[in-house]
Amino acid sequence: MSSEIQKQAIDKNADVAAASPLASPLSGNKSLLRFLTCGSVDDGKSTLIGRLLKDSQQIMDDQVLSLEKDSKQFGTTGEDMDLALLVDGLQAEREQGITIDVAYRFFGTQRRKFIVADAPGHEQYTRNMVTGASNVDLAILLIDARKGVLPQTKRHSYIVSLLGVKHIVVAVNKIDLVGYDQNIFDAIVDDYKKVTQDLGFDTVEFMPISARYGENISGPSAHMSWYKGAALLPYLEQIDVDSAPYEAPMRLPIQLVSRPDLNRRSYRGIMASGVLKAGDKVAALASGKTSTVKDIITPDGHVDKALAQDAVELTLNDEIDLSRGDILIKAKDAEQCHLADQFCAHIIWFDEKRLMPSREYLLQSVNDKTSMSVSDIKYRVDVNSYQKEPADTLEMNDIAECNITTQKPVFLEDYHDNKATGSFIIIDRLTYKTVGAGVVKHALRRANNIVWQELDVTPELRAKQKAQKPFVLWFTGLSGSGKSTIANLLEKKLYSTGKHSYILDGDNVRHGLNKDLGFKATDRVENIRRISEVSKLMADSGLIVLVSFISPYKQDRDMARQIFDVPFLEVFVDTSVAECIKRDPKGLYQKALAGEIPNFTGVNAPYEEPENPDIHVKTEGKTPDQIVEDIIAALEKSGLI
Ligand code: ADX
Repeated sequence: MSSEIQKQAIDKNADVAAASPLASPLSGNKSLLRFLTCGSVDDGKSTLIGRLLKDSQQIMDDQVLSLEKDSKQFGTTGEDMDLALLVDGLQAEREQGITIDVAYRFFGTQRRKFIVADAPGHEQYTRNMVTGASNVDLAILLIDARKGVLPQTKRHSYIVSLLGVKHIVVAVNKIDLVGYDQNIFDAIVDDYKKVTQDLGFDTVEFMPISARYGENISGPSAHMSWYKGAALLPYLEQIDVDSAPYEAPMRLPIQLVSRPDLNRRSYRGIMASGVLKAGDKVAALASGKTSTVKDIITPDGHVDKALAQDAVELTLNDEIDLSRGDILIKAKDAEQCHLADQFCAHIIWFDEKRLMPSREYLLQSVNDKTSMSVSDIKYRVDVNSYQKEPADTLEMNDIAECNITTQKPVFLEDYHDNKATGSFIIIDRLTYKTVGAGVVKHALRRANNIVWQELDVTPELRAKQKAQKPFVLWFTGLSGSGKSTIANLLEKKLYSTGKHSYILDGDNVRHGLNKDLGFKATDRVENIRRISEVSKLMADSGLIVLVSFISPYKQDRDMARQIFDVPFLEVFVDTSVAECIKRDPKGLYQKALAGEIPNFTGVNAPYEEPENPDIHVKTEGKTPDQIVEDIIAALEKSGLI
């Protein structure tokens, strides 16, 4: 970075720090470095941060006193003060001796201000690590000198590289516990260099440290005369980093539109990236309509310019169509900014429940939320070798390159160009848990190449012509539970009363449309997705659709329910596995029990029973005729027939 640009970056940083309420105790015209600590559990991250706070004199005397007291109660360092307790604020963390959430700390020295995100190292906490890493300039990767490079070291290195962190400090900690041995340090350096050389970092600095005893933290260590490099704090004070959020193009997601008086509309949001000045020519992303910025207000009052992460309220010189969820951009960028519904992205999966292609999740971007699914897992990364390997699904902590499809067009940019608008999180539709994060490589196709074709003969007209109300009866249950028998008998009854219907049956559809699908979990998800779509088309054509598939996963049945505009009734054909084995109409249970059929539902593949079916049919002790009468009665009662 040239010194002029660097100066600008520093000035901008200074502005940001001044605008941030959190930065106030540290205000002053000093540059800001945001960094992250990561590594494996127990590598000493919290101790290191505690040490940095202490050595930069950010701890007050009364805190030292309380720390000494806490150390005796919870500490893991005997009679010494346990610096980690300063940082591990949560009681639960203290008791378990691990860190469980990202914590941001602020400290400063004579030369620089620092924000540190303390990312936990426990395997299942990769989520917090990702959250912490997306916004930092540098990562300190801790390695325990006694353990060397571990799988988690490699995973975290890969993730920080994926998230565009360009500067790494590999801190070989607990060097005191290996007798300050240079050979051990050198071996770890070699090991780390070997695995990470292709990760695209601009700088990688190796340091032997002891966070606990403050060796090589604020100055050189008397125990390691063999080490000629810088100590950690002086290194962090002088390293030259880019300030990406301010250099990226201006993007302001609109969160609120208000009308303080009749003549004025104001727009509120948090600047995702770039710089916005009064007088700038801007455009609404959705409509492309342009105007100029009249006034910018931040919590500090009227300002000439706003920067990434500033909360702003602004007014424009013209009334343009700009609503909540839209993004304000510079008018000159409008040509390059497009919505799309297919992307290639890296996905980091956090959830214990694996990711299944075809399954619907929610995608939350900086300004929008929509349904998404993975259409293709291109490869998964083996975190030990960084080799690409094929994968059908993603397990917890997996990292993969995938193609994704969103239900409606969204604005996502290449992460490389803009971290804020190039990343997203993935949310489970049912539990609302964050289950993954994504980093966009590029858009695959512009959504505006495909439009929805309006048709004059509507679903309502088609239903009216058939003089019936279309609806979907979704029969689910084990193979041999009686789904097809019941559906068949029911259809005969409907037919005899002049109803128009169709049965979609697993065995039959698997002879044609779905003959490429087997019985692996991923194939079953795709089986049900396609059948949901087909039955939606049939219901649109005015038919009563009887769907008879095992459909073993609750999530996919719930998803099916959501896509219909017509009533959807889940019919649980409830027959025990023992009874199905006894009936065994196709002889399949016998084969499955003899180990001849892999993944056979109820034998060696799961069936998730419906918790609240609309119609619950217990087949044992009843004839199919009785059951069908019950179903007809239920349909009549609900006014569907
Ligand atoms: S689903 O699980 O994907 O919904 P589907 O209803 O299409 O299954 O197909 C189930 C039918 O396929 C069963 O009734 C049975 O005849 C046959 N079948 C063959 N192999 C299997 C298997 N491994 N598990 C379950 N059914 C199987």
